[in-house]
Amino acid sequence: MSEIESVSAVEILDSRGRPTLLAFCRLADGVTGQASVPSGASTGAAEALELRDGDPKRYDGLGCLKAVDNIKGEINDALAGRHFESQAELDHFLIELDGTENKRRLGANAILGVSLAFCRAQASQRSAPLYAHLAQLAGLGPRLPRPMINLFSGGAHAGGQVAIQDVQIVVPRAGSIRQTLEITSEVFRAAFNLVSERYGMRLLTADEGGLAPPFETSEAMLSTAVEAIKLAGYFPGLEVSLALDVAASQFYSEGRYHIDGNSIDRNGMLDLFYEWCTTFPIVRLEDGLHESDWVGWQQLKKVLAGHTLTIGDDLLCTNPARIRRAIDLQACASLLLKVNQIGTLTEALEAMRLARKANWQVVVSARSGETEDDWLADLAVGWAGDYIKVGSITQSERLAKYNRLLILEATTDLKLTNLPTAG
Ligand code: PGA
Ligand code: ZN
Repeated sequence: MSEIESVSAVEILDSRGRPTLLAFCRLADGVTGQASVPSGASTGAAEALELRDGDPKRYDGLGCLKAVDNIKGEINDALAGRHFESQAELDHFLIELDGTENKRRLGANAILGVSLAFCRAQASQRSAPLYAHLAQLAGLGPRLPRPMINLFSGGAHAGGQVAIQDVQIVVPRAGSIRQTLEITSEVFRAAFNLVSERYGMRLLTADEGGLAPPFETSEAMLSTAVEAIKLAGYFPGLEVSLALDVAASQFYSEGRYHIDGNSIDRNGMLDLFYEWCTTFPIVRLEDGLHESDWVGWQQLKKVLAGHTLTIGDDLLCTNPARIRRAIDLQACASLLLKVNQIGTLTEALEAMRLARKANWQVVVSARSGETEDDWLADLAVGWAGDYIKVGSITQSERLAKYNRLLILEATTDLKLTNLPTAG
């Protein structure tokens, strides 16, 4: 049981220099918690609404002062002096206070900030590390997730030179987070050497810290990743594999996908993915098709069976109703879990439970606009995520999460577990 004394917030800047917010929660016994809220660029149409000011005089309309005022005003007035038994009770109260189906009145950013700050305050009240408190909320044993780490970027995160948004690497047999990051760093350096030779690039990185050279085609992006793995001295597919975030909704219009100078339909994309996934060591494929093409997603899962697991990001938007639909239709094999797509911890937990019940894997994911806050690492550990996707190993907003994992690995008995690689 926790009595809230007050909640508050301040507008801060994220890793793209755009506004977001940091929320504070103070409990009546003086314990406090704070958390900042991330923000996406390639957002799904079904995401909860991130409230922006729309004032063109500030940050191109992206200011978050309205959301901050909602926390300091209406939300604080409603919460101050109230007792909450649990995270779920607080989150349901916030959902009802907002009263809309996508949190557009108070803003999903405002609501999530309060949800997370309360969670941190409750963890402190129990003198529990955040991951342990989150594990208790979920009723799970904590464990370290396997990182999926951004190597090359395209799409909305890199000015759209290549359609595909992310080529990531997975180190399937690494025994620890430390070893995963060591190997990743070697592959990243090898990749940098290759692209600086071929494209004369300095170390310029995209939104999530990935390298973003002007590859001629998506295939060049994939084959360069494989070359980098080899150059670093590793065996592609066995020691280091690839995972793609296609983010296909970003280059789709009127039934066609505009990729590598071609315009192709759903079947063309399915053929392309089959070819890629049988040529390159791709173990995960996220958002391969448009976010509302449920029939296409059913086919994609079948086409890739035995090679590559599909991951739903924009398709699912961490939304329990969409996840139920995907389970019923057998349209997906894993959930990309982004808490700010739905707006409270409790709803994200429901999404995670649905996915687990269907024997899906769960990838806990950051957003392309992040802050130095590291709560996501604790969430991935506490909710026993199979994978964590945070971006590259450059840029402190990404490293805050990897460093938290390194610290947990070194100071607890938490272990990285082995996972089946394809489905
Ligand atoms: P976003 O990108 O945060 O810009 O949505 C991450 C992703 O698509 O997985
Ligand atoms: Zn994605």
